Amino acid sequence: MEYVKLYSELLAAEIGGLLTCNEIERLIEKPKFLHQGDMAFPCFQLAKTMRKPPAAIAKDLSSRLQHQTNGSFNRFEAVGGYINAFLNKANVAKELLNEIRQKKNHYGDLDLGESQTLTIDLSSPNIAKPFSMGHLRSTVIGNSLSLIYEKCGYRTVKINHLGDWGTQFGKLITAYKLWGTEEKVKAEPIQELLALYIKFHEAAESQPQLEQEGRDWFRRLENGNAEALELWKWFKDESLKEFKKIYDLMGIEFDSYAGEAFYNDKMEPTVEMLHEKGLLEDSDGAQVVNLDEYELPPCLIKKSDGATLYATRDLAAARYRFEEYSFVKSLYVVGNEQSLHFKQIKSVLAKMDFPWADGIIHVPFGMMLKDGKKMSTRKGKVVLLENVLQDSIQLAEKNIEDKNPSLANKTDIAVMVGTGAVVFHDLKNFRMNDIEFSLEDMLKVEGETGPYVQYTNARAQSLLRKGAFEAGSGEVNLAADREWAVLTELQAFPDTIKRAVEKNDPSQIAKYVLNLSQAFNKYYGEVKILEDDAEKNDRLQLVHSVSIVLEEGLRLLGIKAPKEM
Ligand code: ARG
Repeated sequence: MEYVKLYSELLAAEIGGLLTCNEIERLIEKPKFLHQGDMAFPCFQLAKTMRKPPAAIAKDLSSRLQHQTNGSFNRFEAVGGYINAFLNKANVAKELLNEIRQKKNHYGDLDLGESQTLTIDLSSPNIAKPFSMGHLRSTVIGNSLSLIYEKCGYRTVKINHLGDWGTQFGKLITAYKLWGTEEKVKAEPIQELLALYIKFHEAAESQPQLEQEGRDWFRRLENGNAEALELWKWFKDESLKEFKKIYDLMGIEFDSYAGEAFYNDKMEPTVEMLHEKGLLEDSDGAQVVNLDEYELPPCLIKKSDGATLYATRDLAAARYRFEEYSFVKSLYVVGNEQSLHFKQIKSVLAKMDFPWADGIIHVPFGMMLKDGKKMSTRKGKVVLLENVLQDSIQLAEKNIEDKNPSLANKTDIAVMVGTGAVVFHDLKNFRMNDIEFSLEDMLKVEGETGPYVQYTNARAQSLLRKGAFEAGSGEVNLAADREWAVLTELQAFPDTIKRAVEKNDPSQIAKYVLNLSQAFNKYYGEVKILEDDAEKNDRLQLVHSVSIVLEEGLRLLGIKAPKEM
């Protein structure tokens, strides 16, 4: 139910056209405390036109509104310049719980997208390098955003724009041919390829001819040399195998793995078009697009030796995506350090007169820190992300062993809790904030963690089992005084989804499921839910609704909700 709308309609009828319904709706606030009512309308804006002090207007209007109470409202109260509206709790309980019972996991669905397509560029790690914390953040945020957009009626296409092309592959081939062995790469591909890459740079300091060799191998690769291509493909396949272990643990799938290499034969038409439109300029032998009018540095399209760049591939990729998917929006979930790059891409596409350039949206995020410093692959010691997830899963397993050793499917549940902990830890903060990495914090069952929310849901599920709850036809009769805080949270779910999608911000949902969990756990502590009285099944109907919404909220974050833990 949209009670805000209802309240604004009542008010609009009383003030005779001084403000429209929509204007009133925007003015209505949520009081800080529940005892101050459910919605507050500030009369300050009316004071000017009505030439009366706000408090007097509030007093007058609230007494006139008393006659307007219709099933949904209980009373109106003037406090200072505000009119606080109190909803009829029993009525809200009846309507809301019935709505959730009927819509189930579709409660909160919105039809903003009208089945139009949105592409989302996410994860996009670099081949032959470790999967970094930045790539984890992109994976987790991007996956959640795609789920949120789907809930809002969009079709989403998840694209893993693998970093699988560039001069570094020439260096890697050189290094492999000098020092590498097949067995070593097969045994630990990422570590071994990284070690070769590092060795190349160390050796190149005293043997500068290696750099030239690296460039030569890259040129051969670009020209389709069979040996170079075979090695490159092998490095790529081995790396992908490793990355897929991470995706499997997190339960994430992609619609496309078209990475940078995919665009090798698709850049020329774009370069050609830039040329035809007179947008290419020479800069010391290199080809650039001037972006002065956007107050941006020029975008480099081709180096002086004719080599293409990361940006060239992104321009070709954007065009390809539009032609292939006709997106209305195209999101790029990539670290904040690439903001300039995406501004340039969008501006170049706008200069090329592609109207869809408007739909290009960079969704940036902050860094993952360890002890206040950027987490990086320290020399010699690689922090493999798969190990981070495995550690978290192991800790979760140990917790289960300590607390609930007889639990069925312990291993599966440990994966849900262990990965859920890592994901929630990331998503509970607004994405632009840097976050401090701490495994122990992530797994705490008390506090703002994934396991806390999962545990709350498992508690709700256990109540439903113990109370032998059956979702009946659902005429709920609850006075709803004690349930009010939980009901208020449940009611806020659709608005939360809307804010999350408008701001591209999964943390809205993470914070929401924390609030709902807290309200529910408080209720659980205060009320004997399973007491055999007339309201028992209605209380369980509330518990059931809480579980539906918690599970759906977690799902939108990309987190599973075990029924028991
Ligand atoms: N592979 C890049 C990196 O690790 C990220 C790619 C992001 N996507 C894109 N279309 N540029 O920095």
